[in-house]
Amino acid sequence: MKIYKINGPILKCHDDGSVKVKEMVEAGPGKLIGEVIDVSRSSATVQIYDNTDGLKIGQDVYGKGRPLSIRLGPGLIGSILSGLGIPLSTGPSPAAAPAVFNFSPAVTPEEKVFPGTVLGSVPEYGIKHCIMVPPGITGDLVKIQGGPAAPGDTVAEIRTVSGAIEKIGLFHDWPVRERRPFKERLGIAEPFFSGQRVLDFIFPLGRGGCAAVPGGFGAGKTIIQHSIAKWGNADIVIYIGCGERGNEIAQILEEFPELNDPRTERPLMERTIIIANTSNMPVTARESSIYTGITIAEYYRDMGYDVVILADSTSRWAEALREISSRLEEIPAEEGYPAYLASRLAEYYERAGNYLCLSGRKGTITAIGAVSPQGGDFSEPVTQQTKRYIKSFWVLDKDLASERHFPAVSWNQSYSEYIPDLEGWWLDNSKTDWAFLRQKIKDILQEADHLENIVKIVGFESLPDKQKLSILAGDLVKKGFLQQNSYDENDAYCVIEKQIAIARAITDFYDTASDKLKKSVSYYKISGLPAIEKIVKLKFMKFPSDEIENALSSIRGELIELA
Ligand SMILES: Nc1ncnc2c1ncn2[C@@H]1O[C@H](COP(=O)(O)OP(=O)(O)OP(=O)(O)O)[C@@H](O)[C@H]1O
Ligand SMILES: [Mg+2]
Repeated sequence: MKIYKINGPILKCHDDGSVKVKEMVEAGPGKLIGEVIDVSRSSATVQIYDNTDGLKIGQDVYGKGRPLSIRLGPGLIGSILSGLGIPLSTGPSPAAAPAVFNFSPAVTPEEKVFPGTVLGSVPEYGIKHCIMVPPGITGDLVKIQGGPAAPGDTVAEIRTVSGAIEKIGLFHDWPVRERRPFKERLGIAEPFFSGQRVLDFIFPLGRGGCAAVPGGFGAGKTIIQHSIAKWGNADIVIYIGCGERGNEIAQILEEFPELNDPRTERPLMERTIIIANTSNMPVTARESSIYTGITIAEYYRDMGYDVVILADSTSRWAEALREISSRLEEIPAEEGYPAYLASRLAEYYERAGNYLCLSGRKGTITAIGAVSPQGGDFSEPVTQQTKRYIKSFWVLDKDLASERHFPAVSWNQSYSEYIPDLEGWWLDNSKTDWAFLRQKIKDILQEADHLENIVKIVGFESLPDKQKLSILAGDLVKKGFLQQNSYDENDAYCVIEKQIAIARAITDFYDTASDKLKKSVSYYKISGLPAIEKIVKLKFMKFPSDEIENALSSIRGELIELA
């Protein structure tokens, strides 16, 4: 086909019936990758995933005969990919993919194999990268070859039902907009821990669940996503820098190779894949980047891993969608976004979940997306449509951020619908009535917020002692529990045992002090206790340690002696 019109990344070509909708194409002498998005009687519309500067009318566009796909296989971990999954040559690559992988077979010839059957594995840092029978192939294994294997090599041969021989290598292509098949979708039954108290304890997310982090400019979206990428309890982290500033990606590239995963003590980059589509890269590749990311997530899920995928920010992604749609001269819906904004968001979030994979293994994809609405107005379409697909909503409040209450997660506007799914896990695994303790903390916050409004009118002194104590307890929750300093060595990440210990210290303090008030101990005797400062400092202590044990017992001691 020959190009007859160029509008940014959108090309119009004279079509001779050679291409299909969704087919991948190469355009011009630079073989720019694109996708056919529309065909009519004599013309085809093509979207190019690269910079089209220099492309000319009359140049050729060739159909590739297959949909827009990415290459899946070993070497993804530790790499930085473009929105199309192509390793970026620019930028410091923390881990160049080796050219040869050592393949260890897990099955023997003559076995019957199915889509998803694990044929063997190659080591990818600490991860066992499984080589599976690609979807769509069933038959008898006729040959399997262990040892060093390069990207083009065949490691196994399968005789399919038709008698044809399928050669299996370490790599296969998969269309990014198509979900990878699975056996069954399972319910959510385990928490996804981020190490952030306000999230894990108050507004939890389940493994395989979805969360959104809406927040205005500078509210802390990037820091919270980085914290989750660093400390979240996932085997694999996929981080999509989607239309944000280049320096935010640069920050990850600087930090991650130096930081160690607290569970494995290995560099974080050894379980991280970064997809970089900064604000100066083509909008079309930004649009596809989230699907590239979720396809890679499904690939590692199929091996039985727990994957977390973070996108910063889905608003920039939606803006890319809007820009492409306007170049296509489509009729805009709300605020200029195309009418299919909701369905495209669904095509992303609905691929998260807890799965029984074709291999028979269980794997999860947990998806977290930042939303950065203009002017912090959450009634805009991207936030509203996202809410349909997520169940944890972590609102970052600009007032809290300006008071330097970080993470600035609003306890009034945020919510989690995963509580009933996770209660059982907490009871079985932490031997704690977490739901009860959580509710108690929420009640303290609510009561304190209510009283603070009254204080604004009548002043603190005119409150009865019981209410003064409620305000004090609210303060303890905010300073000692909700606030978490991501730059502090001991506070950046908080294990759940420590979360429980701090939550208990605060609720026990409140209960005991309330009893003492009834026994005529004055409020000022309580508010003057050194225990209060000790509670606030618990979060900065190493856990477990003698220091925190001693602090906890001295807090209890002070309360008992109060008379
Ligand atoms: N948990 C935290 N601990 C300490 N400081 C924090 C924390 N979260 C955010 N901050 C502070 O807030 C600043 C802004 O955070 P961040 O860059 O994450 O905001 P953002 O919402 O991503 O902003 P933008 O809209 O510009 O992308 C940080 O540079 C840091 O000073
Ligand atoms: Mg940011």
